[in-house]
Amino acid sequence: MGFDLLKGKRGIVFGALNDMSIAWKVAERAVEEGAQITLSNTPVACRMGEVVELGKKLNAEIIPADATNVADLENVFAKSMEVLGGKIDFVLHSIGMSLNVRKKRVYHDLDYNYLTKTLDISAISFHKMLQVGFKMDAISEWGSVLALSYVAAQRTFYGYNDMADAKALLESIGRSFGYIYGRERKVRVNTISQSPTVTTAGSGVKGIDGLIDFSERMSPLGNADALDCANYCITMFSDLTKKVTMQNLFHDGGFSNVGMSLRAMTQYNKSFDENDIKDMY
Ligand SMILES: NC(=O)c1ccc[n+]([C@@H]2O[C@H](COP(=O)([O-])OP(=O)(O)OC[C@H]3O[C@@H](n4cnc5c(N)ncnc54)[C@H](O)[C@@H]3O)[C@@H](O)[C@H]2O)c1
Repeated sequence: MGFDLLKGKRGIVFGALNDMSIAWKVAERAVEEGAQITLSNTPVACRMGEVVELGKKLNAEIIPADATNVADLENVFAKSMEVLGGKIDFVLHSIGMSLNVRKKRVYHDLDYNYLTKTLDISAISFHKMLQVGFKMDAISEWGSVLALSYVAAQRTFYGYNDMADAKALLESIGRSFGYIYGRERKVRVNTISQSPTVTTAGSGVKGIDGLIDFSERMSPLGNADALDCANYCITMFSDLTKKVTMQNLFHDGGFSNVGMSLRAMTQYNKSFDENDIKDMY
């Protein structure tokens, strides 16, 4: 059901790969709320993936771009303004990839070329997007730019590997650029720190099933799924959140503020036999 929250707005959604992608749900919800959008992903993802179907369904032009390539990003902004007929009101950066994770290189044995790629794809691309938008003056006043993050930026989660460093950098870029973009052009920049979610990128995280179950038990409201995340993104793109900027916004059912929950402890205790548990009290 739509509330016309984005009626008349123009947006660019980066990172929809398939119908599990968070960006896929954001694209669908943005159009439901009255926005016109363009979609972007890597040339390979645009050729081989299901993005073409989404483009048809949403009547959205697909503009391929490697998000680490500044010329590609300039093309996305220029074409989007041309196709949508004006400056852009909102941008979603929903991009992440680690070759160290993919190639099973652990954190104390990183390949540094892979690390450079992880940081470029998953974090510096956000700076590139913002800088391109700023230099081209492509984002309208009170526009809203979002990137998706994870709580491993603040606290250590085994197996999240160099993506933790990428997320810390991503959030820092959101703050640093958010200051300048807000001061100069009244554009807001935020990151949303999302619960673990079943997606293609999510399934690369070591022990993701256990992690999802653990955070579900830890979170008083349970995990936020991709659609919940999309709904939150819509509010952040809408005029209802005009004064929110430079924030890392936790969207995780409360997980980030819980030390230990009864449900998680109950499950943990099941791994001990009765005598062990008695000894614990
Ligand atoms: N799934 C989770 O558990 C979770 C939790 C918190 C945050 N996030 C973040 O949400 C974002 C979206 O991930 P997702 O879970 O929807 O998975 P996803 O795999 O559907 O999306 C990742 C996207 O990044 C794109 N991408 C990779 N390299 C690129 C490049 N060089 N240029 C342009 N695009 C590129 C992929 O093609 C893909 O569309 C990521 O930043 C991810 O880290 C995910």
